[in-house]
Amino acid sequence: MIIAVDGPAAAGKGTLARRLAGTFGLPYLDTGLLYRAVGRRVLDAGADPRDVPAALAAARALQPADFTRADLRGPVADMAATAVAAIGDVRAELLEFQRRFGREHGAVLDGRDIGTVVFPTAEAKLFVTASAEERARRRHAELLARGITADYAQVLSEVRDRDAQDENRPVAPLRPAADAMLLDTTHLDADAAFTAAMALLAAKLSSHGA
Ligand code: CDP
Repeated sequence: MIIAVDGPAAAGKGTLARRLAGTFGLPYLDTGLLYRAVGRRVLDAGADPRDVPAALAAARALQPADFTRADLRGPVADMAATAVAAIGDVRAELLEFQRRFGREHGAVLDGRDIGTVVFPTAEAKLFVTASAEERARRRHAELLARGITADYAQVLSEVRDRDAQDENRPVAPLRPAADAMLLDTTHLDADAAFTAAMALLAAKLSSHGA
């Protein structure tokens, strides 16, 4: 079984997807980490994350250790990830890894294009969203909790900027799959979002199995 969890920046996809994976006994993949790791490698090389050959070389050179680096989050890593993610050759390079991850035992994957491109035939697709203000509030709180000084207005502007880049890129733009179930978490905490997601999934999976 594949459960796709897509949506914009800081919508709470990761928290939800991890919990769903635990509940269904499925492996979990945070696909954003792949783009973050590529962006980080490009920055390490002193190149611009929009530079196609540099980003493609970084994607081809990825190693398991890249995913456990401590510097994959924060504004610089966010913007670099979003920039490399707009490059079609980078996305193509990362596609097979994501498919292989889910193929053998099933999986919960979170990202932007899981339901539209990576696993268009997933048994269940959730598109998780929340207002930009609420997502910025959550991301701001996350940064403060990690000891990173941040300005709310700046975080909001970065969230909006990354959404626009993800939605407007020509390759695998951020959008709900036609058969995705929408979950707006603006007024839901993590527990309430999980309960709502489980209700949507129960309805979907029972009709799928019938
Ligand atoms: O945690 P947050 O929602 O801010 O970001 P993320 O899920 O870690 O993704 C980082 C960036 O990678 C996003 O802004 C997207 O540009 C890109 N991404 C993507 O294009 N496709 C995916 N399946 C996952 C992430």
